[in-house]
Amino acid sequence: MNVFQGEISSLPPDKSISHRAALIGALAEGTTEITNFSGGYDNQSTLSVLRDAGISVRQEEVPVADGRIVRNVVIESRGLWSFSKPSGPLMCNNSGSTMRMLAGIMAAQPFRSELIGDASLMKRPMKRVADPLRQMGAAISLSAEGTAPVVIDGTKEIRPIEYLLPVPSAQVKSLVAFAAMHADGRSKIIEPIRSRDHTELMLGLETIDRPDGVREIIVEGRRPIAAKPFNVPADPSAACFMIALGLLGDRSEIVIRNVCLNPTRVAYIDILQEAGAGLVIENTRSEGGEPVGDIVVRSCSGLKPLRISDHTIVAGVIDEIPMLSVLSAFASGEFELHNAAELRTKESDRIDALVVNLQRLGFDCEQYPDGFVVKGRSGVVPEKAHIECFDDHRIAMSFAIAAEAAGASLELSDRDVAGVSFPNFFSLIESLRQ
Ligand code: S3P
Repeated sequence: MNVFQGEISSLPPDKSISHRAALIGALAEGTTEITNFSGGYDNQSTLSVLRDAGISVRQEEVPVADGRIVRNVVIESRGLWSFSKPSGPLMCNNSGSTMRMLAGIMAAQPFRSELIGDASLMKRPMKRVADPLRQMGAAISLSAEGTAPVVIDGTKEIRPIEYLLPVPSAQVKSLVAFAAMHADGRSKIIEPIRSRDHTELMLGLETIDRPDGVREIIVEGRRPIAAKPFNVPADPSAACFMIALGLLGDRSEIVIRNVCLNPTRVAYIDILQEAGAGLVIENTRSEGGEPVGDIVVRSCSGLKPLRISDHTIVAGVIDEIPMLSVLSAFASGEFELHNAAELRTKESDRIDALVVNLQRLGFDCEQYPDGFVVKGRSGVVPEKAHIECFDDHRIAMSFAIAAEAAGASLELSDRDVAGVSFPNFFSLIESLRQ
C-alpha cells in the first residue's frame, strides 16, 4: 500500500511570482521586502543575475511560528535605470523566465550585456525575445539557431511599442512590459490567448478586455515605481505534483495550505474535477492581489482519461501537462493532447520526453508535432525502469510521483533537477508517507 497523508504548509513559494517580485523590486525606487521567496534554483538565478548587474540583494532565512524556515529577500534600488554594466556574462542557469524577463530590462539600459544559461537553456528559442526588443530600438544578437547567448546593446532611448503577442507567453508579455516601462510614451501589448497575469497584477497595469476576448495591456513608460512589499503564496504548479500523489495513492488525504489560486494558473484543478478527482478548495481569500486558498485532495479511483486540446486551456495548464499526462496514463491508461507545440520549447522537448519515458513504462504512445496520445498499456513494466530526465524538473517530478504512488521502481537519471522549482520535493513525499 502506498498511503500518503498529512498537511503541507511548506510547499515552495510560487516561482513566477518570486521572479517578478525580485525584478520589480530592482526597477522600483526604495526598499522592496519580499517574504516567502522561493529557494528554487531558478529563483536564486534571478537574484544572482540582479547582483551581477549591480542591484543590492539581501536574503535571509527566518524561523516562523510553526517551525518552518521562511526565506525573505530585501532589494534596494533607485529605480528604472539602477543597473550597472556586468563584468561578464549573466548566467541564468536553467531559468528561461530569468533570461527572457531580464532581457526586457537590459534592453533599456545604456550598455552591453550578455545572457547565457546551462545546456538546456542555451537550446531554447529566444527570437521571441529579440523581435519585440529590436522593434523598440535595442540591438540584440542571438546564435544562428535563434538561441542564447543573447547579446543586448541596450539603449536609454527605448521606444514604446504596440505588440501583438505571436505566442501565448507570459514571459514575452512581461519582458515587453519591463522594456516599455522605460520608454517615453504609452505601449500596448495585445494578448489573444490569456497567459498568467502576475506581472500586470503586481505592477497594477491597466488591462482592457475586448468583446472579442482579446486582452490589451497598457504600459505608461517612465513612471517611477514605488517600492512595495510582496508576500509570495505557494506555487500551484508545485501543488499539482502533491495532488497527483494524493490522487494516485491508496487511502490518501493531503491538505495543501496557502496555494496561489490565480485563475490563470489553476485550470488544471477544473480539468481534474471534471475527470472525477476528489479535490476540494477551502479557505479562499485574497492576499496581495492574488487569490489564495487551501486544497484538499483524496485518493480517487476511476479517474476519467484526460483529453486536452483547446488552445486557451493548453496555455492555462502548460506547466502542469507533464504531471497531468503521467497521472492520466497511470490512473486510466489513456491521455490525449493537441495544440501544444509550445511544450517542445520548455526545459526539454516535453512531448518527446514524456513519450520516451511512458513507452519505457509499457504505455502505447504516439507523438505528433503538437501533442501526443497514450492509447493504453500493452508492454510489461520493466523490473527497474530508467527514466531520462532531460535536465527538466517537471519531467523528473512527474515520473517520481507516479513511481511513488504506483509502487513502481523507477530510477531517475537526475533527482537533483527537482530543485529547480521544488527543493524539498523528495523530503515532502517522505513526510507524507504512512
Ligand atoms: C512562466 C511562463 C511560462 C511557464 C514558465 C513560467 C512565467 O512560460 O511555462 O514556467 O513565469 O512567466 P512561457 O511564457 O514561455 O509560456
